[in-house]
Amino acid sequence: MNQQTVTITDNRTGKTMNCPIKTGTEGASVIDGQALYKELGLFTLDPAFLTTASCESKITFIDGEKGILLYRGYPIEQLAEHSSYPEVCYLLLYGELPTSDQMEDFKHTVCQHTLLHEGLVNFYKGFRHDAHPMAMLVGVVGALSGYYPDAMDISNPEHCNKSAIRLIAKMPTIAANIHKYLIGQAYVYPRNDISYVSNFMQMMFAVPSETYQFNEIANRALEVMLILHADHEQNASTSTVRLAGSSQAHPFSCVAGGIATLWGPAHGGANEAVIRLLQEIKTPKNIPEYIRRFKDKNDPMKLMGFGHRVYKNYDPRAKIIRKICHNLLQELGTQDQPLFEVALELEKIALSDDYFIERKLYPNVDFYSGLILKALGIPLNMFTVIFAVARSVGWIAQWMEMTEDANLKIGRPRQLYIGNKRRDYVPVAKR
Ligand code: SDX
Repeated sequence: MNQQTVTITDNRTGKTMNCPIKTGTEGASVIDGQALYKELGLFTLDPAFLTTASCESKITFIDGEKGILLYRGYPIEQLAEHSSYPEVCYLLLYGELPTSDQMEDFKHTVCQHTLLHEGLVNFYKGFRHDAHPMAMLVGVVGALSGYYPDAMDISNPEHCNKSAIRLIAKMPTIAANIHKYLIGQAYVYPRNDISYVSNFMQMMFAVPSETYQFNEIANRALEVMLILHADHEQNASTSTVRLAGSSQAHPFSCVAGGIATLWGPAHGGANEAVIRLLQEIKTPKNIPEYIRRFKDKNDPMKLMGFGHRVYKNYDPRAKIIRKICHNLLQELGTQDQPLFEVALELEKIALSDDYFIERKLYPNVDFYSGLILKALGIPLNMFTVIFAVARSVGWIAQWMEMTEDANLKIGRPRQLYIGNKRRDYVPVAKR
């Protein structure tokens, strides 16, 4: 088959170039514009990467129009129903669902790395007791790269795999310690005899003076949340990790950059912002006034948890989370039912309003997730930390895929310069 191309002609010079079209296994094809500058002396301008594919990847596929999300080809709905977070970690890292032996071996390996260096635990003491947990997470994970000089060679697959295992293993311990530090309670050490999620929950909520009571309903709800948030193609925080990784920096410092990016309310910080919004709205009768504000161009307030750069249909993760939320609130009998009612009514009104319909704004992963985290007893300011714990496997899987690329080059975008032309220095006496 003759090569498919797009012909670009510069009508200032009449110069023409045939850019190859590359087609993947799913989704939009791409124009390979790598030779554009060499052939036509032109860059492409795409500041928010609305139409830019930054890499080739086999990990996650999203169809924004149809609301499809696949991890290594497996639908998110099936993984949420049948899988475990450690199994999804294995799948994202290595590309296939593990056999039972491979799963046991992986879980055992992860358990060998759940402890933190005691020196790193001292690092927490430098933070104020009212520090935002995401500020602490950025700092602690960044510092983690200082404790493992034995795995710095990103051209060594064993080093890369060891860093991936260490990150997945330590993130729950780091996150739980942040929570304990901020509430002034003793750290709870990880346990190797229980599941990944049970261990995370006991590190978060156990106290030395009592035997921790596990709640399987709560554990399963958190596990599904971790699965749903594990990876999401080339989102802002993953793109940060890839760009940092392209310079061959230590993976933990690359992930610290991803955590910093995730913190923003336009990205992972939205789950915390949604709850604050629902609490401010209080009751369904206040919704119309807020809908007016969301639509008002002069009002910066947005309907947090709605809209998505890729999904122009319902975020498949939001559908799953809404169902879990409904069941969990019933089963746990928490006092969060009124907030859930406001969320349901807000969604109903927004989805019937032309402003949201015309812009294809639907609930995204963050709209209902905060209600689940709140029902599990996780403090509001820790919500994005939980998102970061879940996404760590996605970040490190994408980083590993990038390091395996034999043609890995440092990411270095160009620009359209609109500043001053060359001009000579003017002595201060003459200005
Ligand atoms: C995540 O990329 C990922 O995959 C991210 C993520 C992942 O798993 O990694 O899915 C996780 O970050 C989910 C998104 C969480 N953020 C929020 O819920 C914050 C609220 N949403 C918006 O900030 C916004 O929708 C974004 C940031 C999510 C997407 O922004 P885009 O794609 O740049 O779209 P846009 O801002 O250009 O909006 C298009 C129009 C604009 O109106 P017009 O100028 O056309 O008149 O829609 C409006 C926007 O003002 N709009 C909203 C809105 N979102 C978009 N108006 C009111 N409320 C909103 N939430």
